[in-house]
Amino acid sequence: MNSKEVLLAEIGHRITAAMPNLGCVLETTAEELGRVMGAGCVLFLESEQDPGLLEPLCSWHEDADYMEFIRAELAGAPLRLGEGLTGKVAQSGESLVIPEVTPEQLARMVDPRHLPIVEARPVRSMMVVALPSLSGPIGALTLFFPEVKGPANTGDLRFVERLASCAGLVISNTQTFERLQAELAHREQAEAERLELERRIQHAQKLESLGVLAGGIAHDFNNLLVGILGNASLALLDLPPESPARESVHQIELTARRASELTHQLLAYSGKGRFVVTRIDLSRLVEEITHLLEVTISKKAVLKFDFASVVLPVEADATQMRQVVMNLITNASDAVGETSGIITIATGMTEADERYLSGSWLPEPVPPGTYTYLEVSDTGQGMSPAALARIFEPFYSTKGSGRGLGLAAVLGIVRGHNGALKVYSEPGRGTTIKVLLPCAEPAELLPGSPGEVLPVPADGSTVLLADDEETVRSVGRRVLERAGYRVMTASDGKEAVEIFEARADDIDLVLLDMTMPRLSGAEAYARIRSIRPEVPTLLSSGYNEQDATSRFAGKGLAGFLQKPWTAQSLVEAVERVLRSNGEAER
Ligand SMILES: Nc1ncnc2c1ncn2[C@@H]1O[C@H](COP(=O)(O)OP(=O)(O)OP(=O)(O)O)[C@@H](O)[C@H]1O
Ligand SMILES: [Mg+2]
Repeated sequence: MNSKEVLLAEIGHRITAAMPNLGCVLETTAEELGRVMGAGCVLFLESEQDPGLLEPLCSWHEDADYMEFIRAELAGAPLRLGEGLTGKVAQSGESLVIPEVTPEQLARMVDPRHLPIVEARPVRSMMVVALPSLSGPIGALTLFFPEVKGPANTGDLRFVERLASCAGLVISNTQTFERLQAELAHREQAEAERLELERRIQHAQKLESLGVLAGGIAHDFNNLLVGILGNASLALLDLPPESPARESVHQIELTARRASELTHQLLAYSGKGRFVVTRIDLSRLVEEITHLLEVTISKKAVLKFDFASVVLPVEADATQMRQVVMNLITNASDAVGETSGIITIATGMTEADERYLSGSWLPEPVPPGTYTYLEVSDTGQGMSPAALARIFEPFYSTKGSGRGLGLAAVLGIVRGHNGALKVYSEPGRGTTIKVLLPCAEPAELLPGSPGEVLPVPADGSTVLLADDEETVRSVGRRVLERAGYRVMTASDGKEAVEIFEARADDIDLVLLDMTMPRLSGAEAYARIRSIRPEVPTLLSSGYNEQDATSRFAGKGLAGFLQKPWTAQSLVEAVERVLRSNGEAER
């Protein structure tokens, strides 16, 4: 649009804004014009939707029934530009005056479809004037008289023409203004969408780099924690019961365990903690940790369950799912605080369409479809929209003792499981957080109950332990040797393969770290299996590249040992594998 058009549109808008309603003003104009001229009056406008068609915009006749009849006739047989008397004037812009006409003459002039109109009442005289605009006529004003108009009609014609030119200008400028408004609104919306997208990308990049950082720190810390935890438990075994140092060493162990909870959250946030994916029933997973949840929550809170009546199969890492439940429940309990409140855990299935998903916290876009959900609601203090916008940021916390990692970890876990998160919160009313996970095929749900636990004599069993961290190797060796195993160690994947090649038949179990130089855990595992496919192999890591673990899926891995392991969890994992292997051989 050029500046003149904009100015005209603006003036047109001001004129129309000064009037309460253009349509209503035109109606009264038609009526007043009709009365002053002693005529029936119809104002036609070219249709915006259907160019070439003339729509009656307003009309008047002293006989309201007749006017109604005309409107109905015109609706059934619309006027077209260039056809009939009105259509010709609306096209050419030339005014037309018929001072005197007989019904027979008129019948020959009008569009045959409109004969009923001129037959219903005698029309003896007519005046048709174009509605002008800057870009040409946009319609016409038709007056029809019941009696013959005398020669005085030249003055009348000028008056009607001036009136029509005012009306035409106002109408066309209003239309231009409306189009301009729509265009501006459209542009503003496009700009807002672009800015929002930019903001999201920046946010995602920020979180991504924080994730890399968090994952790296957690990985290195986990190796250090293996050293601290392992040495603390070995020291406890060595110290006599009456030693005054026991309490301090015990505290070291407890503190290191708390630190390992932290690295767990960091790992989950970085999306690098998803290791053991199985088919689980979401409701049963929650049920199994009910006792834990009950001791976690505030004494003032009542815990309620609302489980789906059907099995809800999901492909998930059970440990991580428990972490999600615990983090959400802890937050709900903190939100309820010292006042009494209710915390509800619900599970179920829901249809999520694009609209529903667009209102969610999507770590990555997910397709619409059926989702399994886990929902934790509380009647606690709720959150303001400003707080709500930040809750998934790592280290965002409003609590004195909070680390701000709970929901960041939840987000990382949900990302790792291709899910989505919905959050509703109102200050003073409470919060609901819904975790949506893709449904798995129900048929393949794994049977749950673990088998009977049999003690295994460690005598004679040999473990090959490969890890690039010296501390991990030395603690691992001492812990396992103390439990009665023979231990060989390798400082990287290549060395592990070489030792295995030389001593394949002497080795009963291989414990591989995932990230090692020269040959990674995955590569070493593949080579070891090609030498002796049935050797049970345990994988251990402080974190893991997700695709690397998926390469392991279904390839007979005996288990996964999350770092930092403790003396106890290491021995238990090794025992469990050897036991189930022994059973399989029997
Ligand atoms: N159910 C809830 N009701 C009200 N506010 C909540 C709720 N859940 C989370 N928040 C808000 O989101 C913030 C971040 O939660 P998050 O779990 O990530 O960290 P935190 O609970 O503060 O610390 P951490 O979980 O690491 O101990 C909280 O500090 C709190 O302000
Ligand atoms: Mg929390």
